[in-house]
Order: sequence, then C-alpha cells, then structure tokens
Amino acid sequence: WATFAEDIEAIERLKVEHNAVILAHNYMTPEVFLGVADIRGDSLALAREAQRVDADTIVLAGVHFMAETAKVLNPAKRVLLPDLRSGCSLAESITASDVAALREAHPGVPVVTYVNTSAEVKAASDITCTSGNAVQVIESLGTDKVIMIPDQYLARNIAARTGVEVITHPGACEVHERFTPLDIVQIRHDNPGVTVLAHPECPPEVVAEADYAGSTADMQAYVDRERPSRVALITECSMSDNVAADHPDIDFVRPCNLCPHMKRNTLRAIRTALETGTHEITVDPALAAGARRAIERMLAVPM
Ligand code: 13P
Ligand code: SF4
Repeated sequence: WATFAEDIEAIERLKVEHNAVILAHNYMTPEVFLGVADIRGDSLALAREAQRVDADTIVLAGVHFMAETAKVLNPAKRVLLPDLRSGCSLAESITASDVAALREAHPGVPVVTYVNTSAEVKAASDITCTSGNAVQVIESLGTDKVIMIPDQYLARNIAARTGVEVITHPGACEVHERFTPLDIVQIRHDNPGVTVLAHPECPPEVVAEADYAGSTADMQAYVDRERPSRVALITECSMSDNVAADHPDIDFVRPCNLCPHMKRNTLRAIRTALETGTHEITVDPALAAGARRAIERMLAVPM
C-alpha cells in the first residue's frame, strides 16, 4: 500500500475538488476496489447505482460498456473512463446489424441482450440482462423462445435453468471461456473439501462441475452467507482478492484468468482521469434513448 499511498491521497483530494464518485466493478485490483472506490459491485449493481448518482462526475473503474451504461442512465453527469482501451470481447463480438439479421431469421422472437454490449446493440434489443438477473429477465417475457446474445455460454447456462429455448450468437468472454472442466477436477483433487463457485460466462461443462454458479455479486453473497472453509472462485483474478479481504478465516484457492481490459484502470490512470477530465464518454442521444428503454425495462423486472 505504501507505493499506492500518494495516488490514493491525490485521488481522494481530486474527488472532493471535482465532486466525483468512483464506481468500481468487482474485478478491479484491491488498491482501486478497496482503496478509492465509493460504490462497488457487479454489473447490475453498478447500473442501478449509476442511475442514482448525485455527484457531478462518475469515474467508472470497469470497462467501456459500463461507462456507457452509466452515461445512458444518468446523462446529465460527466462520465469518465480512465483508459479508453478497456473493452470487452463480448461487446466486440456483435453489432446492431447482427441483431437485425437475427430478428429477420426469427421473426417475433424477443431479443435479450447482455449488458456487455455497445449502446447501439442495446438500442436494437427488447431488453437487457446481466448475469445477476438473466433468469428473472427471461421469465418476465413469458415466451418459450428468446434470442439471447452475445454470450453463447451464458445463454446456454440460463436456458438450462429456465427451460426456455435460446437462439444465440457465437460470442464469449475471453476470461471465462478459458476454464475447463478438468481445471475443476484438478482443483478438487488438490484441495479436499473445496467449494467451487463458477461465473455463468464459463462454458456449461465447467458450470456443471461447480457447486454453484452466479454473478460476481452472487458469488460474494454465497461466501458471506455460507462461509465455506475453503473456496475456489472460477472467474477473474481480482475477485478472490476482494472477497478474501472480508474473510481472513477462509482459504481461497486462487485459480483465475486476468481480464486485461479491467486491469487497464490502474490507480494512476484514475488519478490522471480526474486531473485531466479524460476520457469523457458520450453517447449519441438517439442511440441513448433506445438503449435506456432496454436497460430501464430490465431494471423494472422484479428480483
Ligand atoms: P458480473 O459482475 O455482472 O457478474 O459480470 C462479470 C463480468 O464479466 C463483467 O464484465
Ligand atoms: Fe468482458 Fe470478460 Fe473482461 Fe468481463 S471479464 S470485461 S466479460 S472480457
């Protein structure tokens, strides 16, 4: 922490100076997540909280689609993303014309779009979802078939839980698609008694080997509630570091893959963002209106 102290002090001063708040995703490194974040959570919590922010500036310590969602939901605020290269393999896998082609091939089937997409793709959709509410969103539609894009694995995992048929798109998270069922077999062999929690962006064969699957907030809640003596979180590397900070008595086995996009938002990048006002996220108002309709419909689904 000594090496981070100067940046943390500067960021705290800049937050006051610019009336800014920092929203941080659960995959931020601990010095960001525990050191300077004002609001922490999964994609769903960050969307809900962004809508309620009263401060003038939101710094999104996460990735581009999260900053765009914050701007769409709270357009009067200045939204800063510290590093513009913070993309997402899922968001990059699909365009609005792909959505139009799916609609043409499957007339009348509703389009449920993961929040890990651009505002343009959200605007072309009927409703968005996150991994924290995908089951409730699908069930709220009351149909036996949905187009669920762009994460083929999330779609298949949710189909298995709802019995609703999914038409999907060949997108995947570059972090979670790398886990294999054998990884879990090996973890169990090496760590007797371990409880294995997997993110639903993992392939279904991986989820099948786990004891539980859920969003990052669901994993945190599971550990808080069940307090397993030994646990493995099959997800991005910082997740275990951040959850472990609240649970010094739990043994965290740490298999993980890094998300290079999340990791670009370092303390230094956040400090520079506040010092220079970079990089401000803007969304074309017509697209923003369409994206807001799809996101607000999601936020209205009872949990
Ligand atoms: P959640 O935090 O909503 O589970 O999403 C995980 C993720 O990969 C975000 O990019
Ligand atoms: Fe995208 Fe996966 Fe990184 Fe999340 S962890 S931002 S889904 S690439």
